[in-house]
Order: sequence, then structure tokens, then C-alpha cells
Amino acid sequence: MNDPHARSRSLPPEGALSGFGRPGATEMNESAPGESPTRLSITLPDDWHLHLRDGEALRAVVAASATAFGRAIVMPNLRPPVVTVAQALAYRTRIEAALADALSQGELAAEAAASFRPLMTLYLTDRTSPEEIRHGVESGAVSAVKLYPAGATTNSDAGVTDMRRVAPALAAMERHGLPLLVHGEVADPAVDVFDRERVFIERVMTPLRRDFPALRVVFEHVTTAEAVQYVRDVDGPVAATMTPQHLLYNRNAIFTGGLRPHWYCLPVLKRERHRLALVEAATSGDPRFFLGTDSAPHAARLKEHAAACAGCYTAPHAIELYATVFEMQGRLDRLEAFASFHGADFYGLPRNQERVELVRENWTVPESLPFGADSIVPLAGGEVLRWRLYRTGRRQPE
Ligand code: DOR
Ligand code: ZN
Repeated sequence: MNDPHARSRSLPPEGALSGFGRPGATEMNESAPGESPTRLSITLPDDWHLHLRDGEALRAVVAASATAFGRAIVMPNLRPPVVTVAQALAYRTRIEAALADALSQGELAAEAAASFRPLMTLYLTDRTSPEEIRHGVESGAVSAVKLYPAGATTNSDAGVTDMRRVAPALAAMERHGLPLLVHGEVADPAVDVFDRERVFIERVMTPLRRDFPALRVVFEHVTTAEAVQYVRDVDGPVAATMTPQHLLYNRNAIFTGGLRPHWYCLPVLKRERHRLALVEAATSGDPRFFLGTDSAPHAARLKEHAAACAGCYTAPHAIELYATVFEMQGRLDRLEAFASFHGADFYGLPRNQERVELVRENWTVPESLPFGADSIVPLAGGEVLRWRLYRTGRRQPE
């Protein structure tokens, strides 16, 4: 791997991901050759926002996250949703069984299988009781509670219909220091889909923070300059996760050369000015912004569908996608804090000890991967990435 010609080989072929410069994709301001290192050693990252699904789908995707991340905050939007501590514990057991199965099938290295920690969440509903919150905290099994406004996104129909109904649960969370993870979009059909995050700040976030100022809040998958500004300005324990797709693409990506469902997620990609604000915040070193992939697998046939499901599948190459963003910004030196420190610090958890290596190496994202009886198309499938993650037991550099 210490190939002296590596740099001259690093110009990606046509269609490479650095071909983000294609019409409709994001213009990239690449750092000049020679400015970037060819290897980067960082602390093992964590994923602070992940969809692992259940059953065959869980089995198909769990190894990818366990290979690249130490811990993951696992979203509770199953059908039916994970609303009780007992359900969260049972789900964690199923995740552990899927990890063991992946290990036994040789799809996961022993070290990764042993070290990966799924951190469980509860799905907040109008009926979530303060007792369930206390039980979650005392059991040590619940790391956070997720707020989906009813109707805002995938499997959100059991979500919150009126914030007044969840006041007792929120008060209990504030008392116990249990974080609220917020899908920050209003579901009001009268609000334009591109404005739903901004309007959420006015209608929900501001009153929420006024009523529960000590509540720990993560504004999940922020997509707008307004959300970035909100998180920066607010006093108190508020942070935000950022996905690779919102850092890499603007909304043109959904419409380039035809309607591209694999670029469709919620909140939907926004204008370039918003992407630039996100990139600036992610690479600024501000500890309120950290990695949360929102990797959200759906079978290809449900994405390539008349009513395409929302969600981008990024778990297998997420860290490489983030590295692309940080490199383009000339801030690879800040990737580790964003990926491996800020989230753990916000959640009050120890930082990982293990280190992983990112190596400058061109490789092609698979166009399709097995997904139980179906297949799945990863974000940017078929494109060439310029960084590749290596971890002990996995893809040792030749
Ligand atoms: O794009 C999305 N997909 N956004 C969400 O909020 C949910 C997720 C999913 O579960 O598929
Ligand atoms: Zn999500």
C-alpha cells in the first residue's frame, strides 16, 4: 500500500465519486494533489443515527455497521415500533443474534463482532409514560428516545401528534438526562416539503427548548443553514447529526439524468447554499456537530417504485463518504473529532480506544448488494471512492 505511485493513480476514472462535478451533482473544490495524506489513522468512529431494521434485512446490513463503527444509536422505527424497554431489549437480542450469525458465516471479523455495541432507543408516542422513561434509564438499556412527528417519515404513523401530549415523558427525560433525538420536520401538508425543517424550528424546537431547557436534544440529520444556525446559537445541551448524503449532495442529485430514487431520503436534500452551510459546520471542529449516517436500507424494488421509500443506504462506505467531504474542504485533520469524539462526548460515553486506518485507494462502491431475498442499492453505487477504511481483521492493506 505504500506504493510511491499511489498519488499518481489517485485521479479517479470517469464517473468517479469525485465526478460529483457532473451536471446536477455538487461542485467540489478538491484539494490539490499532494496536499492530502495517503493514510490517515483515526479512533474507531461511532454512528449516532442508524436504521438496522429487523429479520432478514437486519441480518443483511448489521455486519457493515459493525465493521466500520464501534457503537451505533439504533433507530426504533420498526413495524410495530419499539415503544417499551422490553421491546428495546428484545430488539437488542435480535441484533446480537444477527451479529453472531454474520460472524459464523464469515461476513464479520471476530474483533468487530465482539466490540460493536448497539445503543437502543425508544420511539416516543403520545402514550409514552414517565415510568417507562425511568425504567429505560434505570435498566441502562435505553440510550435515547426518538421523536417522529406523526406522518413525517418512514414508519412514523405512531409518532407524536401533539407535543403537549408528551410533556410528562419529556419532563422525565429532562430529569434523568436522557437525550431526545428529533426528526426535525413538521408533517403539515400545507408546508412545502423543502421548508419543513425550518418551520419545525419555529413551531416545535423553539417551544420545546423553552419548556424543557435542560433537556438534552439531538437535532437529527440537519439539512438546512437555518438548522445549523439554530444549533450554533442556542444555549444549552443541543447537538446535531449530519449524514453523508446531505454533506455531499444538493437536491439536483435527485433529478440528474432522470428521477433517482436512491438519492431520495427524508429530510429531502436541499439547495447548494444549505449543503455549504452543513459542510462548513461539520468541518469547523464545533463539538455540537457529529456523525450520524441515517443509513436507511430499503429493498431496491421499493426504492425503484411508483411511491419510492425514503432512505439512503450508506453503512458499508459511510466513513469513506465523510472522508471525501472533509478532504474536499481541506480538513481531513478534523474528521476524527467529528466521527469519533463529539458524539461520544455528547452522550457522556467514553471515546473508543481502537484505531482504524483510512487509506487513499480507489475502489468502486458495489452497484447492488444482497438484502435477504431482495437486493439493495447503496448510495453512489458504481462510483469510485478515493478512501478506504481498514480495520484489523478486515481488508488488510496488501
Ligand atoms: O430517509 C429516511 N429514511 N428518513 C427517515 O427519517 C426514516 C428513514 C427510514 O427509516 O427509512
Ligand atoms: Zn433516520
